[in-house]
This record gives sequence, structure tokens and C-alpha cells, in this order.
Amino acid sequence: MPNFELGNGARVLEETKAKAPLRSPVVVSLFKTGLLGCSVAEWQKAGGKETYAFEDYRVSSQAVIRADGLLKQGKIAEAVEYVHENAHKKYQDRTTEGKWKYYTERQLAECAGSEGEDIKHLRSLLTNRASGDVLEAMCGYTSYFGDNPKINNVIAMDFCQEALELYDRPGATKVLFDLESIDDENGVDFIPDSSINTASISFGVDYLSKPLAVYEEFRRLLAPGGKFFIVGASHQGFPDLQKRDFCPAFHARLLKQVGFANSVELLPYERQDSQFYLVEATKR
Ligand SMILES: C[S@@+](CC[C@H](N)C(=O)[O-])C[C@H]1O[C@@H](n2cnc3c(N)ncnc32)[C@H](O)[C@@H]1O
Repeated sequence: MPNFELGNGARVLEETKAKAPLRSPVVVSLFKTGLLGCSVAEWQKAGGKETYAFEDYRVSSQAVIRADGLLKQGKIAEAVEYVHENAHKKYQDRTTEGKWKYYTERQLAECAGSEGEDIKHLRSLLTNRASGDVLEAMCGYTSYFGDNPKINNVIAMDFCQEALELYDRPGATKVLFDLESIDDENGVDFIPDSSINTASISFGVDYLSKPLAVYEEFRRLLAPGGKFFIVGASHQGFPDLQKRDFCPAFHARLLKQVGFANSVELLPYERQDSQFYLVEATKR
């Protein structure tokens, strides 16, 4: 396993033209929340205001909780900057990566989460089928790889730093990387050929504009016999960021095109109008 460094391979992200609905701002008086652990004077000295207009109340509460965590470490200027950025950077003006940061914070604020029954089921399914060195790409903050003595190291990969910081599998190597940078000429250059035994992308492939290039690159990374798990659900996701709806047959076809053997499994999760699938690909 190579020696990874956080940020290795990261690219500067470009603005997208994705459109999102306008939301009306939520005005939050920070000191009325009672959460901020410093005085008004200290806050204002560091450039902070008493009242902020946030785009979304869930983001505002998450921002206040996070700012309070920074204040507890004595980082007043960072806390001010964090609240300021969250309140002033409008969703539609953010980069794609910034939009993911917004969703990460919103989900955390809603406690959407890593502990539902379906998620537990999926975690045990992927954990039991995994072995060796694992690459969990587009990982967000929820790992689907739990305890299994057959697993060695886990590399968690995402381009959203906030999500990666919260990624919940202890001991994983966290790599900030934009999978959209993969094309005919650029790959995940810092991971050698055939060095990964299990790879996964859960609820992510339809945010990629060039999944074929990504699958080719993942085939290079995987050892012969290595597994690549793709999990997705029809009619789910963030429409303004998604490139297409999840269709398991579409991904199975692309995987076959780059030389994987694969099978499609319907997962037993009941949701209105949505089916969950696991595409399991094996490097021949
Ligand atoms: C819907 S979330 C899924 C997260 C996690 N796999 C789960 O199931 O909870 C999609 C994740 O993909 C990440 N992502 C989106 N586009 C990406 C890209 N181009 N490169 C790397 N990560 C990306 C987002 O930051 C987000 O964490």
C-alpha cells in the first residue's frame, strides 16, 4: 500500500452552471441560540456579527454547532469565518464541491443517517464481501465497511473535505480527490496498478459525467479477482447535481465494456417509488 497524503491528486474545482431553487434566508441571532461559547465582545473583535441570514435553517444550526466546536478549541477567527461563509455563500454561487459541502451539512443537521436499518444491512453486506485493501470512493461521511478480519486498509476518497473529515471508519486513509478529473490522460496516479482488492461507490456514480473513464481506471487499480461494488437507487439523489437517474443495467453494460464480469442484485429496501441495487463487478 503506498504512502498517501491528504490532498494528493486534488484539483482546483471549476464552477458549474447547475441551477438550484432560491430559498428564503433564515435569520439567526447567534447569541440567542445560546450555543456560542464566547462573549459578544470576543466574537465582534474577531469580525463576527451578532445576526446572520442563512439560506437554510438546518445549515444554520449545523454551522452554529460547528462554530461552537471551533470556539471550544480557542479558534475564534476560524469560527467567525466558518459562520460567515455558510451564511453568505449562496447555494447557487457555490462550486460543485461547495454544493456537496452544503448537502453534507444539511444531512448532518437533519441527522439523516448512518444508523438506519437499511444502512446497517448494506454495511454488513459489503463488509462481508470485502477483503484486502479497500477503496471506498465517493464515501461521504458514512462508511459501508465495518469490522472484518479479511479487510486490511481502507482508503476513503471524496472531494468534499467536510464529509471526509467526518468519515466514520477509524484508521482509514482519507484522500481528497475529484473523480471528475479522470479521463484518457489522467487517473488516480498515486494508486499503483492491481493494488486494491475491493472498491466501492455507493450512491455516487450518477454524479459522474464520465463513468466509463472511472470504471476503466478502477479496473487498473484492482487486482485480478478484485471486486468493485456499485450501489444505487432509482429516483433518488440531488437532481441539480445528478447527471442521470440510476439504472443498474446501464452501469453493468459500462463495466462489461471495460472488461469486468458482473451481476446485478435487487436489495430488499422498501421505499416509495425507489428500488435499490447492488452491481457487483469482478476483475477477470
Ligand atoms: C450522495 S453522497 C454518498 C455518500 C456515501 N457513499 C453514502 O452512501 O452515504 C455522494 C458523495 O460523493 C461525493 N462526490 C460527488 N462528486 C464527486 C467527485 N467528482 N469526486 C469525488 N467525490 C465526489 C460527494 O462529496 C458526496 O460525499
